[in-house]
Amino acid sequence: MATFFRGSLLVGLVVALSVNSSFAAEQKPQDLYKANCQGCHGASGRPSPVGKGLGAKSFQDPAVMKTSLSEMARVIAKGRNKMPPYEATLTPKEIKDLTKYIKEMK
Ligand code: HEC
Repeated sequence: MATFFRGSLLVGLVVALSVNSSFAAEQKPQDLYKANCQGCHGASGRPSPVGKGLGAKSFQDPAVMKTSLSEMARVIAKGRNKMPPYEATLTPKEIKDLTKYIKEMK
């Protein structure tokens, strides 16, 4: 009985985990942005006082607008100066989606 119980607990855990990760795979860029980036980069890409203090520029800044998508994705993945790296928390696809989302911010 005890073994059976432990077994079903394990199955329950695996199901819970896989439901969770498929959820994560479907996160929309705007939700990812809100959860991970908005604190420093602000709702519309203009940095919050915290972000500004760390040296973040507005995503509408001409210098930032000129940055290529792949360079932006690299900064998000690897970090730069006070910008934290996200390669451990976000998938490459999520980073790519976020990059496009940022580029289209007004
Ligand atoms: C702790 C504050 C903080 C958080 C959270 C943060 N950033 Fe940044 N970010 C910065 C700072 C500061 C810079 C400027 C880095 C530098 O000095 O070059 C930056 C730079 C960038 C750049 C490069 C823009 C340029 O100047 O060319 C991109 C793109 C970017 N962040 C995207 C993101 C994304 C996407 C997220 C969320 C996944 C995020 N950031 C989360 C602080 C943050």
